[in-house]
Amino acid sequence: MRKLVRMRPVELDPARRRLAACHDIGDLRRAARRQIPQPVFDYVDGAADEEQAVHANVAAFRQWRFLPRVLTDVSAADTSSSIFGSPVPLPLALGPAGYTRMLHPDGESGAARSAARHGLPYTLSTMAATGIEEVAAAVSGLPSPDLWFQLYVLKDRAQVQDLLDRAWGNGYRVLVVTVDTMVAGNRIRDKRNGLSIPPELSLQTVLQVASRPAYWYRLLRGPALDFANFAGRPQANRTTIMQSAEFFDPAINWDTIDDLRSRWPGKLVIKGPVGVADAQRAVEVGADGIQLSNHGGRQLDRAIPPVELIAPVREAVGPSVTIMVDSGIRHGADVVVALALGADAGVLGRAYLYGLMAGGEAGADRAIEIIAAQFKATMQLLGIASVGELRKHGRELLAASSS
Ligand code: FNR
Repeated sequence: MRKLVRMRPVELDPARRRLAACHDIGDLRRAARRQIPQPVFDYVDGAADEEQAVHANVAAFRQWRFLPRVLTDVSAADTSSSIFGSPVPLPLALGPAGYTRMLHPDGESGAARSAARHGLPYTLSTMAATGIEEVAAAVSGLPSPDLWFQLYVLKDRAQVQDLLDRAWGNGYRVLVVTVDTMVAGNRIRDKRNGLSIPPELSLQTVLQVASRPAYWYRLLRGPALDFANFAGRPQANRTTIMQSAEFFDPAINWDTIDDLRSRWPGKLVIKGPVGVADAQRAVEVGADGIQLSNHGGRQLDRAIPPVELIAPVREAVGPSVTIMVDSGIRHGADVVVALALGADAGVLGRAYLYGLMAGGEAGADRAIEIIAAQFKATMQLLGIASVGELRKHGRELLAASSS
């Protein structure tokens, strides 16, 4: 019998066993759902209103069909690239997410460490539950970590200046200004679940403690969950996710970007559903990059899938402006599509957050490794040996699906 069948070594650690059984982002999402109380899972998985945009985002990547080149020798295929002059082993970054520590105590620090270990940039959110300084310290021992800071323009401009100073002072080199959150997106699942920061023990949550004890054990052992980077809150002591947008200034305009440009010495990126005219304006006011995004469908439902903006925006701004895209990346092939259409990099949101929920920092590792392997295999099967080649021949490799 032993000669015929080899026994696979048994993984005793349950988290590692769970992650080893995940082979794509869908597996990580399902594993996360089994681990995490429903209101927290819904906070990540859910989107605005009827959740049309989030589904359209994923579908928009998948509507492309590949037309490979054959017999091209891809034995030495190289997925490396660079973003804002820094080398990356693949054209990918981790995007900002608020309250990441609510998903798992490894939180923002774990995600940042995971990104740095894989040589990728990590973007810390204004709404993070871990401080700017703490995340910088968490990655300081790793070789060349690349930290970015995402800014929501707060009504309180003194706090904005404080955030900029602390981010720059702690080595964050790219400022990502999110421009699609003038007011809160209408997150129906969060409303139904009554999700708040810090999470409140309602009768419903008490019942869920019993069904997800490991989650609550981990959460209650760690420091209290709160906004880590700025003081003040609109309500006395608890803030629903929707209320947290009351901190943000709905009056932001191009002068705001002009002003930020003069205050921020590093690279500046505009993140949002930026069409052709706005992209040109962004470049005029001194943005170094554009992150095409509809916030994963969490703000304006029915906002155009950002993947559809890549080609026209590239055409409008020319080759020297960095274009990144998020919203809907669930597979390495999505990153291939983004680059073939003219983007410089893809940015992960839920894809790594599902990993984090499924298994903390090791789960974020798993998500990145899955996307990286898929990216490389897709490139090779397309007959493409480098990212430069992918960018050059991109449009010849894509055909819109007729079905
Ligand atoms: C986000 N996103 C986000 N964006 C931002 O600029 N600041 C933030 O604080 C957050 N917070 C946040 C929390 C959660 C739970 C999610 C899922 C997303 C948006 C994020 O950066 C990115 O644009 C989307 O996640 C991309 O869409 P997909 O790929 O997740 O569908």
